[in-house]
Amino acid sequence: MATIKTIGILTSGGDAPGMNAAIRAVTRSAIYSGFKVKGIYRGYRGLISNEIVDFKPQNVSNIIQHGGTILKTARCKEFMTEEGRQHAYDVMKQHEIDALIVIGGDGSLSGARQFASEFDVPIVGLPATIDNDLYGTDHTIGYDTALNTIMWCVDRIRDTATSHERLFFIEVMGRTAGFLALSGALATGAEAAIIPEISIEVDQLAELIENGFRNSKNSSIVLVAESPITGGAMGLAERVRTEYPQYDTRVTILGHLQRGGSPTAQDRILATRMGAAAIDALIEGQRNVMIGDHNDQIVYVPFSKAIRKDKPIDRDLVETLRRLSI
Ligand code: F6P
Repeated sequence: MATIKTIGILTSGGDAPGMNAAIRAVTRSAIYSGFKVKGIYRGYRGLISNEIVDFKPQNVSNIIQHGGTILKTARCKEFMTEEGRQHAYDVMKQHEIDALIVIGGDGSLSGARQFASEFDVPIVGLPATIDNDLYGTDHTIGYDTALNTIMWCVDRIRDTATSHERLFFIEVMGRTAGFLALSGALATGAEAAIIPEISIEVDQLAELIENGFRNSKNSSIVLVAESPITGGAMGLAERVRTEYPQYDTRVTILGHLQRGGSPTAQDRILATRMGAAAIDALIEGQRNVMIGDHNDQIVYVPFSKAIRKDKPIDRDLVETLRRLSI
C-alpha cells in the first residue's frame, strides 16, 4: 500500500450544516498527524477543473459556527463518466494527492465508491446530508440542525393554524426518506407524518384529523415528506380539499431554508468527531469506508453498505406519533 503524504478534502452534493466543522476537523487532525492537506473546491467538479489549494490550520479558522461549506459544493455530471473520473485522477496525481476525504450524502459516496473501484485511491467518506438516509450511521451531519429548523418553523405555523382553526400540510425535505418528517412531527406535536416508507390513505388521514377536531383540537398540522410516493404537501392537500372541503386547508413548503443556518452543538460535535476519525481511519489503513456513528461509537461502514438506500425508519416512533395524535 502506497504511503499517504497528502490528503485532499472536498464537499459534494447538497450542503449540510456542520460541513464546515467537518472540514476543520479533517484539516487540523491531518496536519497534526503530519499530513499535507489540499482543499478541493466545488466537489468532484473542482477536482476535474483543478480548483485546488493548500490548506493550513488557519484556512479553517472561525468556520465551525457557519452553515454551508467554505469549499463550496456541486453536483457533477462529468464525474459520472469514465473520462471525467480519469481526468479527476490525473489532476489528483498532478497535485500529489494520495488519499481523499469526501464529505457528502448518498450521491457523493456512490461517486467515491465508483472512483475507488477504478483507481488505486484510498477514500474515506463522512456522511453529511440533512436527509439522514445513509445506512450504518444513526445520524448524518446536518440532520439535527435541519430538524431544529423544522421545529422552529412548525412552532410558528402552529400559532397561526390555531388562531384560524386551520389544517396545515407542511412539506419537508428528505429526498426519498421520511426521517425529517417523522422526527419533525414528533418534535412539534404534529397530528401526523406522511412518509414514503409507510402508506396511508386519504380517508384514514381525514379520519384522524376529524377525530382531532371532534376532540376539541382547534388546529391540525401534518408533516409531509417530499416524494413522488407521498405526492408532497400540494398533492395531498389537493386530494383532501376535494374530498373534505369542510377543512380550511393551507400548505407551506419549507424548502431550502432547511439546509441553512448555524449548526447545532450536536452537529458540530458529530462533524468534529467524524472528521478526526476519518484521519485515524486512513492511518489505520482503512479504505473506502464511511465514518458512521452507532450507539454513540464511531464505526467504519463500507461504501457499498452505506449507500444501500434501505435505512429503516424506527417503527416505534411511528406508533408513538399515532398514539399521541388523539
Ligand atoms: O439531499 C439533500 C436535499 O436537500 C434533499 O433533501 C432535497 O431533495 C435535495 O437535496 C434538493 O436538492 P437541490 O439543492 O439540488 O435542489
